[in-house]
Amino acid sequence: MILAIETSCDETALALFDPARGLTAEWVHSQIALHERYGGVVPDLATREHLRTLAPLLARAREESDQFATVNQVAVTQGPGLAGCLAIGTAAAKALALALGKPLIGVNHLRGHAFSPFVSVHAEHPAVFNAALQTLLPHLGLIVSGGNTLLFSLDENLRLRVLSTTRDDAAGEALDKGAKLLGLGYPGGPLIEKRGAAGRVDAYDFPRGIGQRSELDFSFSGLKTSLRYQIEKMEARAVENELANLCASYQQAVVDALVRKATFALRGGESRFRSLGLSGGVANNRILREAFGTLARKQGIPFLPAQSQHTGDNAGMIAFAAWIDPTLEELWGTARASLEIEPSLPLC
Ligand code: KG4
Repeated sequence: MILAIETSCDETALALFDPARGLTAEWVHSQIALHERYGGVVPDLATREHLRTLAPLLARAREESDQFATVNQVAVTQGPGLAGCLAIGTAAAKALALALGKPLIGVNHLRGHAFSPFVSVHAEHPAVFNAALQTLLPHLGLIVSGGNTLLFSLDENLRLRVLSTTRDDAAGEALDKGAKLLGLGYPGGPLIEKRGAAGRVDAYDFPRGIGQRSELDFSFSGLKTSLRYQIEKMEARAVENELANLCASYQQAVVDALVRKATFALRGGESRFRSLGLSGGVANNRILREAFGTLARKQGIPFLPAQSQHTGDNAGMIAFAAWIDPTLEELWGTARASLEIEPSLPLC
């Protein structure tokens, strides 16, 4: 039984994972309401909030789940993330591991996102998971969040290779900044999705990043600038009247840019991929999920979107990664006496 703690940004989260059964319980305390009025996550406030809520959340989890007594491994998000926030989670995890006399595993947050689409595969086939997994590898995955946009492959030995990242803004960042320009709140992605639902996706022609087939990198800064120029050309009232069309067209440009690079990767040199994954906060977006589902269907491979409770920051994916990731090692009691906080831990 693995107990995982995630505090890398603005969610305080816990999960219990039993390899024989899957995730048996999850707890999340979201800080969105706290940061909303500032238009983004305030690191110092986030750290204090983790400090305030983590111990009571652990106490609640212990009360609500009798499986707490069977925990034989503690896992924690080691990085990347906000250093102060990571420190709260790692300190708690160290204390727990020490008190319970159990090993401590440090997990890379992005690797957690990378493996998150397989959580539901495991939940469906816990007894024959390894066989089910092998039918899905090699795997092409896209992590899309507020801080990252990353295409990667997973080979038959679960070795992860980064194929491309963004050269500037992440996809979620582009949506959040776009929402700010349009006078919407934070986080911008869901607000743009909501306001754009009634709009036309072809009302405005926004750029789709780097076009060449040979180039898998993403770029979203031009898109954001293009929206700014468009808004500057319009009267405030016109922006208000056109909000639905602006949101729909802007969101479609983000989706098209993501689908285009995933298509190049699927059909390019490494065309042996047997599944397509989508994870990270932006993977909540319905239009993006549908577009990736269509792409996988056309390619004749299964589409594995992370379940919505595992798209944003969560401890379920951290517990699962602690179990499945072959690159992880037990840190407690090894030569590395303490679990370092790694805000910029490399992905592989
Ligand atoms: O993974 P995440 O919770 O945080 C990190 O960046 O680690 O992702 C947050 C991002 C934000 O940029 C937010 O606007 C975006 O995910 N997001 C969405 C949706 N829900 C969250 N973007 C588009 N559509 C959504 N429904």
